[in-house]
Amino acid sequence: AKTRHFKWDVEYIHWSPDGKESVVMGINGQFPGPTIRAKAGDTVAVHLTNKLHTEGVVIHWHGIRQIGTPWADGTAAISQCAINPGETFLYRFKVDKAGTYFYHGHYGMQRSAGLYGSLIVEVGDGEKEPFHYDGEFNLLLSDWWHKGSHEQEVDLSSNPLRWIGEPQTLLINGRGQYNCSLAAQFSKPPLPQCKLRGGEQYAPQILRVRPNKIYRLRIASTTALASLNLAIGGHKMVVVEADGNYVQPFSVQDMDIYSGESYSILFKTDQDPTKNYWISINVRGREPKTPQGLTLLNYIPNSASKFPTLPPPIAPLWNDYNHSKSFSNKIFALMGSPKPPPQNHRRIILLNTQNKIDGYTKWAINNVSLVLPTTPYLGSIRYGINAFDTKPPPDNFPRDYDVLKQAPNSNSTYGNGVYMLKFNTTIDIILQNANALAKDVSEIHPWHLHGHDFWVLGYGEGKFSEKDVKKFNLKNPPLRNTAVIFPFGWTALRFVTDNPGVWAFHCHIEPHLHMGMGVIFAEGVHLVKKIPKEALACGLTGKMFMSNKHN
Ligand code: C2O
Ligand code: CU
Repeated sequence: AKTRHFKWDVEYIHWSPDGKESVVMGINGQFPGPTIRAKAGDTVAVHLTNKLHTEGVVIHWHGIRQIGTPWADGTAAISQCAINPGETFLYRFKVDKAGTYFYHGHYGMQRSAGLYGSLIVEVGDGEKEPFHYDGEFNLLLSDWWHKGSHEQEVDLSSNPLRWIGEPQTLLINGRGQYNCSLAAQFSKPPLPQCKLRGGEQYAPQILRVRPNKIYRLRIASTTALASLNLAIGGHKMVVVEADGNYVQPFSVQDMDIYSGESYSILFKTDQDPTKNYWISINVRGREPKTPQGLTLLNYIPNSASKFPTLPPPIAPLWNDYNHSKSFSNKIFALMGSPKPPPQNHRRIILLNTQNKIDGYTKWAINNVSLVLPTTPYLGSIRYGINAFDTKPPPDNFPRDYDVLKQAPNSNSTYGNGVYMLKFNTTIDIILQNANALAKDVSEIHPWHLHGHDFWVLGYGEGKFSEKDVKKFNLKNPPLRNTAVIFPFGWTALRFVTDNPGVWAFHCHIEPHLHMGMGVIFAEGVHLVKKIPKEALACGLTGKMFMSNKHN
């Protein structure tokens, strides 16, 4: 195993992700940021300099558990202070498990600003994947707005709420097309054909393949909002990995992917080799106002400018939730994967609601809308400063709450309390969806846990009840770091508190998190050693270090 060093400058750059020039948050002058490739067991050391001039920055390594390095998790106000303009911070952490991951900004709405990239961990030396392939590609999916992230932030914090609306463009590896289509003859509503020469920043990244081979496609979604469905025209896909964990291979025509999730699929280039094929992504779960994202699967030696004669794959209807549920319910752990403990020590039920606070529209969990404190929790708890609400948030919601109806009193409160979890115990989380503020509306929320993988024990409809426990899958539940709750449904998760630190658990839809949709878990913080001072040089921990200096 080795240490891989990277020197990164984060700065605003002019870029054209979809043909319209914008200001994006780039790394080393590029968008998306550079891809990190490492091997399991390696140490990654990113020397990150903030060249943003007037705002702080942090980067979160999504899916990396940060075992023993909770201060490198890259969550502002949780694991560290935002890195000030001009300053350099060293993210040094071990990538212990092979898989498809990504990284992104975790301060304000910096993910929406374009601060993201791929992180790919290959199997360690002498190790083998449990499947074979001849070549691989990587697709990082995202969504793009023409309105800048700061304006979006102000819109979302306004009373009345100004909703940011649907994205203008879906991006594949940071590339999409606005106001034109690669498949104009099939586009609804009609769009002109894109006139591309191939060198443009918004030209699609074409996948060049040889006939009769097996390819691995790594796919990760870092969308701010959109849930997606991906398909390869004419080709079946076999899902083999989810969130850095192997799954029992299963075959599909199309797959859903929610923000925060990653997958690997295998496909065989067994179709007519004289043709090229579409790869498409479409919005799910929200009435789509965004054209599909496209790129080409180009069979060598065909010309890449030879467009497929068939239309791009037809996506399932945006509100065909049964289709989505059937995909989620096909995912099981590969035989031999770690099994969950048979019993839990504590169960926390988290009700997801949309609320008002003094007229402002917010999201709340058990009636608390998360507002982060000024001193990062990690230092705050480690040094006993406790600069947050010391009353922990509730483990449940009122029994008589009707999740199928609008809340009788939709007001909630702001809070920044912490779920203090006993070290080395088994925790069950039931994510309970509910009706939002509007009548008969309930949305999809992909929940992501930092510092851990969890087992997904099951999904259900309506309100979770004690008898649902019997239906939990304890035999081969998949290990993941992100799991979705479907409209008006619940999702059950289990994990073990074996990683000392403070960990965010939140909806991965960035505007939802911004509006308070998250909670904080802390476990074994007294066991955390040697937190680098640079991580905590703000708020009350910053003051503490200052006064110690004078002693
Ligand atoms: Cu990828 Cu806390 O998020
Ligand atoms: Cu959400």
